[in-house]
Amino acid sequence: MAATNIHTEFHRFLNRQDKETLLGQRGLVIWMYGLSGSGKSTIANAAERALHEEGRFTVILDGDNLRSGLNANLGFSDEDRLENVRRVSETAKVFAANGIITFVSVITPRAALRGLARGIVGEDFFEVYVQASFEACAQRDVKGLYAKAAKGEIPNFTGRDSSFEVPEKPDLLLDTESTTVAEVAAALLDAVRGRISPAIPE
Ligand SMILES: Nc1ncnc2c1ncn2[C@@H]1O[C@H](COP(=O)(O)OP(=O)(O)OP(=O)(O)O)[C@@H](O)[C@H]1O
Ligand SMILES: [Mg+2]
Repeated sequence: MAATNIHTEFHRFLNRQDKETLLGQRGLVIWMYGLSGSGKSTIANAAERALHEEGRFTVILDGDNLRSGLNANLGFSDEDRLENVRRVSETAKVFAANGIITFVSVITPRAALRGLARGIVGEDFFEVYVQASFEACAQRDVKGLYAKAAKGEIPNFTGRDSSFEVPEKPDLLLDTESTTVAEVAAALLDAVRGRISPAIPE
């Protein structure tokens, strides 16, 4: 049963502005979603590295990694995907509220899940659709999952047994079929530059 009588304390001594001034940046949640193998983790890592070299502080919340810890008790049913997104959203929100540029890479296959994430994170939410066709992802088959899914060995496999709803209006769309990793990472950084630069001059 959920706890009651919880009193949330906010910023007793330090507020968000203090953290952002220290870091010389503004917090943001860059929510990257798309099919397995579309390039979410690859792009998040490339963009993070570029930002690190510029002196920015970043965190990656990678769906796969979180599923071995924070979300270890969750599977891929609709209910568990919802809880997965809720937990990642709440975690990302805390990081952004402390001035950290936070990349999330989670498949997030449905509009309702994206809406949930946006609702939790609020105005720090920047959604990036990482686009590659099912066929292209199956061709890459980075983790061997598409071959397994084709044999019926993976229940609820996204794009096959479980639907992926193509977004109507993401903040940014990155097509990874006809581009290099460096190109899409640069496009992502161009798009978020104004949102992560400090509000006050450094
Ligand atoms: N323009 C591109 N952007 C990103 N990845 C690309 C691009 N072109 C080719 N790739 C390749 O596509 C693959 C993407 O795999 P990656 O693990 O990043 O996918 P993912 O979306 O994180 O999948 P999962 O949901 O299973 O974690 C990599 O092997 C990467 O090298
Ligand atoms: Mg990944």
